[in-house]
Amino acid sequence: MTTTIELKPSSNPLSDAEREAILAQPGFGRYFTDHMVTIKWTEGRGWHDAQLVPYAPLSIDPANMTLHYGQEIFEGLKAYRQPDGSVATFRPEANGERFRASARRLAMPELPVETFVAACDALVQQDAAWVPAHGGEESLYLRPFMIATEVGLGVRPANEYLFLVIASPAGAYFPGGVKPVSIWLSEDRVRAVPGGMGDAKTGGNYAASLLAQAEAAAKGCDQVAYLDAVEHKWVEELGGMNLYFVYGDKIVTPSLTGSLLAGITRDSLLKLASDLGYTSEESRVSIDQWREDTAAGTLTEVFACGTAAVITPVGTVKSAGGEWTQGDGTPGPVTLKLRERLLDIQRGTAEDTHGWMHSL
Ligand code: PLP
Ligand code: COI
Repeated sequence: MTTTIELKPSSNPLSDAEREAILAQPGFGRYFTDHMVTIKWTEGRGWHDAQLVPYAPLSIDPANMTLHYGQEIFEGLKAYRQPDGSVATFRPEANGERFRASARRLAMPELPVETFVAACDALVQQDAAWVPAHGGEESLYLRPFMIATEVGLGVRPANEYLFLVIASPAGAYFPGGVKPVSIWLSEDRVRAVPGGMGDAKTGGNYAASLLAQAEAAAKGCDQVAYLDAVEHKWVEELGGMNLYFVYGDKIVTPSLTGSLLAGITRDSLLKLASDLGYTSEESRVSIDQWREDTAAGTLTEVFACGTAAVITPVGTVKSAGGEWTQGDGTPGPVTLKLRERLLDIQRGTAEDTHGWMHSL
């Protein structure tokens, strides 16, 4: 496979003034940079035609297989401006590995990790002016994804695919800043089932979460926490984030059962915990335990984590059976300490002892 990406830069990128106006208030996923990377895959030929081209709409046949059967996977990772003005991405190889695992689950071709990383690098290098200034929480969010491009209505894995990377400057995912999110505990609607696609990053899982998310919003909650699909008892994750439970100086996250996503932030925190003198554990956590340990005062903090949302404290939890608030409703000290350390590594102000940053 070639990792040589042919560069065909835009002849009319946004002006500096237009770009600066966007970077002053980027929001999340609302604006896109001047370029994108595209790589094709064809049965019998493999990966070919890797290009960096101006960002533009795709022309899609109405009978494109992705539109009908949802053979789509994606990733999310961020590029951060470093103190010396250079740019680095956070653990892109881990995203590349997960992308391969998602591809396997959806019977799609696996893109080599080095090609995945090279594609992200090429886009960030070309659109480096879009990486927000050093120091804050802003970053450039990269969205690699793959769709089937074969035309036809037969239900089987397609024989043609398109891999793309697009990029979007990102401010805080929750515009309110580090303030606790409220959670609706969904005891009937599930996101994923054993043997299903819950551990793959595919659009279908997000489609499955939207009705519950809308119901949560109607109940005044920001996010939904999903339970396991068999016993409706074990806490799995939120629609786009993993969960952590803080017991004094021990942090506990639901174990990977196959129906939740193996978050890269989740994994990083398992490792950062010991750097900060905490212990960490992966185990099953039930909703009864969540409610009872909060009431007993042993469960001191709960937070959600993911690339887009970084680390976000959980405040109020509502369920059909009642409502409670974690701690005094403000971000807890362990949550804030882990958040600060992770962000410091990402923006290059704490030593990268785990070798997570990928410099460009
Ligand atoms: N769980 C789901 C369903 C997600 O969409 C995400 C976001 O990517 C996460 C967890 C967190 O994963 P990561 O930390 O790799 O971003
Ligand atoms: C991410 O954190 O990268 C996600 O994919 C979460 C959400 C934006 C889907």
